[in-house]
Amino acid sequence: MKIFVTGGAGYIGSHTCVELLQKGNEVVVIDNFDNSSEESVKRVEKITGKEVKLYKGDVRDGKLLDKIFSENKIDWVIHFAGLKAVGESCAKPIEYYNNNLYGTLVLLNAMRAHGCKRIVFSSSATVYGTPEVLPLDENCKVGGTTNPYGTSKYFQEIMLTDVWKSDPEWTVVLLRYFNPVGAHESGLIGEDPKGIPNNLTPYIAKVAIGELKEVGVFGDDYDTPDGTGVRDYIHVVDLAKGHVSAIEKITGTGVYTYNLGTGVGYSVLDVIHAFEKACGKKLPYSIKPRRAGDIAACYADASKANKELGWKAELGIDEMCASLWKWQSMNPKGYSKG
Ligand code: UD1
Repeated sequence: MKIFVTGGAGYIGSHTCVELLQKGNEVVVIDNFDNSSEESVKRVEKITGKEVKLYKGDVRDGKLLDKIFSENKIDWVIHFAGLKAVGESCAKPIEYYNNNLYGTLVLLNAMRAHGCKRIVFSSSATVYGTPEVLPLDENCKVGGTTNPYGTSKYFQEIMLTDVWKSDPEWTVVLLRYFNPVGAHESGLIGEDPKGIPNNLTPYIAKVAIGELKEVGVFGDDYDTPDGTGVRDYIHVVDLAKGHVSAIEKITGTGVYTYNLGTGVGYSVLDVIHAFEKACGKKLPYSIKPRRAGDIAACYADASKANKELGWKAELGIDEMCASLWKWQSMNPKGYSKG
């Protein structure tokens, strides 16, 4: 199949391109390199020995999308392109809604014009807001999001569902990711955050490499076994494979929603200790106040994806930390210094 991957140079996009290519698919990528690098596409080609057809540009550029759909007979779109930092989204809501909502509208418009009606959307567990029950399954209440990033994911799910309601020939797959971490086993591709990372595992990796002094643990007084926040960390390669399972297994039309997680929650201290094992040294950390907007615990019931897509996360916390450490050690400056 020929798959159009928006944001295919990014962290999850690049890992998904590898899995798609290794399963014999053709991949067409659009990326504006806002939070990614062309080097990641070259590395994807190196890992797979296959070519990626790359268009440099913005998903909001309707003319460029027209050109791409005219030049390529696309079977499925996997839509990753968008902004994704929670804190930044509170400071820049206009940019976030413009990129994420308007970008999706331009994409859907181009898809309709070219008769391509199958899309996998990169959603997030953030659409559940503060969990009412754990583990979270796909029937749990959505909405109640607390920041423009999360709200944009929630709105995009609604937009996509409305498109299907207007034309039942569409196939819409909403994949709700829990906390994607780790890197490809080759150490050639991984997450390359700009500046000081907001998320836990890239922060730990930078402490391990000596670039940052210590890990700040945001709160140890949550109602969790050790008092620190609990999350469902999922290896990015497992997550990438979830996309491949979706396009291979789903043949009907409709809206399909799946949680992609492991179903297992780890605390901040669990992750620090697992990373210590992976890098072979003690990592300094100190307890800080809670981070505004954080919840105590969040983990998935991922059984629906297992039942319907035959997909299950295979890799555990040790593989997540080991692969991240390999990527960080091989690329201390991310993609910028090769
Ligand atoms: C965040 C986003 C979520 C997004 C996900 C992507 C929020 C509220 N949610 O999830 O929408 O999909 O990233 O991976 O930001 N922590 C520390 N010290 C740190 C960083 C984090 O103790 O330096 C703790 C947090 O309090 C939390 C856990 O580590 O308990 C995970 O945090 P993080 O990696 O930022 O992910 P989430 O906040 O779960």
